[in-house]
Amino acid sequence: MSDPNDLAAFLDLGWQRLTRGVQDRRAAARHPVFATVSTKGLPEARTVVLRAADRGAATVEIHTDSGSGKMISLRQTPVAQLHIWDEKARLQIRLSTSVEINQGASVAQDWARVPEGSRMAYGASPKPGSPIARAHAYTKLSRESAFAVLICTIREIELMQLSDPHRRAVFKAETGWQGGWIVP
Ligand SMILES: Cc1cc2nc3c(=O)[nH]c(=O)nc-3n(C[C@H](O)[C@H](O)[C@H](O)COP(=O)(O)O)c2cc1C
Repeated sequence: MSDPNDLAAFLDLGWQRLTRGVQDRRAAARHPVFATVSTKGLPEARTVVLRAADRGAATVEIHTDSGSGKMISLRQTPVAQLHIWDEKARLQIRLSTSVEINQGASVAQDWARVPEGSRMAYGASPKPGSPIARAHAYTKLSRESAFAVLICTIREIELMQLSDPHRRAVFKAETGWQGGWIVP
């Protein structure tokens, strides 16, 4: 049996489950909850698609419509927490991140890789979140200028596993991802 006190193996498991979300549409990590802080200081959470996860760079990537409400929040408070509940691994993953917004020429290559059918997610008119008279009173414009790539640099990873007994650990960038156990 593997050593339950092996912090490095626990972190490896977290990254394995996270990166699986990028390749496998059915993986739990495909759809993290992305939580930000509104301009009024209130919490706001929504489901997103995990587009990339890079352990070496300690980053994850999310794509969004630059007209969406989260952009206003991120411009004021450029931090986000990503939350994943991976039922198969009985693992909760929380990533505390700093967010950099990328648009325009710097993301032209990413835009080129967005499949034609998925481009309509960028450039809603009127803007996402605008009140409308009828459910379908909007158009999707597939606009490259509305394509934003959020590069989230991970400062802290918290893992909680519903093993018997439960295990919970925190890994911080500032300590070289060394990690430490905490009470679940
Ligand atoms: C399964 C699923 C996947 C989604 N993926 C994304 C995504 O990758 N990026 C995104 O901006 N919104 C995505 N959304 C929509 C968001 O949940 C949210 O409704 C939208 O981004 C507007 O949020 P905001 O007003 O807080 O910015 C997704 C929604 C669902 C249900």
